[in-house]
Amino acid sequence: MAVSLEGDKVILVPYMKEHVPKYHQWMEDPVLLEATASEPLTLDQEYQMHLSWTQDPHKKTFILLDKDLVEGKFVHGDPYVEAMVGDVNIYMNDLDNPQLAEVEIMIAELKSRGKGLAKESVLMMMSHAVENYGINIFRAKIGKSNGPSLSLFRKLGFEDISYSEIFKEMTLELPVTKPKLEELQQLIGHVVRHT
Ligand SMILES: CC(C)(COP(=O)(O)OP(=O)(O)OC[C@H]1O[C@@H](n2cnc3c(N)ncnc32)[C@H](O)[C@@H]1OP(=O)(O)O)[C@@H](O)C(=O)NCCC(=O)NCCS
Repeated sequence: MAVSLEGDKVILVPYMKEHVPKYHQWMEDPVLLEATASEPLTLDQEYQMHLSWTQDPHKKTFILLDKDLVEGKFVHGDPYVEAMVGDVNIYMNDLDNPQLAEVEIMIAELKSRGKGLAKESVLMMMSHAVENYGINIFRAKIGKSNGPSLSLFRKLGFEDISYSEIFKEMTLELPVTKPKLEELQQLIGHVVRHT
């Protein structure tokens, strides 16, 4: 079982098969599909996708647990479906640069938005990716009308790089040097690793 990472507000846990039905339910919402540029999948396809996420070395994903919804003491390996509120992913899919990762975040549960969970999760994922996969530059592709997401990534220091008229999508990037990593880690506070 991969690691779980516990911050102040969220716990990032491995994507387990118990999470798939609720994830599938989220991804039936047309608003979330559009915001994440995703295609609708059947439940069977979602299980296939889950396997691909757990087996493909170029993709890493965590399910986000809202700590306010976790009852009792956290036990690594338990799915806590009732507390799952979103996901954070990276894809190391740039053929020219294996140290570049595209990052994606979703807080699917509306009641858990606006609490700083996305910010903390992206910071924790970036720190994990720098330390474990040698990533030194992050990229985010965001629809031009997705104000909350553009604001989130710009606030973290991502800069606009290009705009695709066809996809109506901005590309933003953040190089993470050692001093930048230390600056980002200051924003997160203490992270507990559960293995
Ligand atoms: C974008 C999204 C991830 C933000 O999640 P969140 O947990 O509510 O965000 P946070 O509470 O961590 O907010 C962090 C920053 O994001 C920005 N932000 C978040 N919600 C915002 C909103 N409704 N309007 C404007 N800015 C917003 C702000 O800059 C905020 O910083 P602040 O609180 O200091 O002002 C969430 O709305 C979401 O999942 N949307 C649908 C999926 C999506 O668009 N994913 C991104 C695809 S690239």
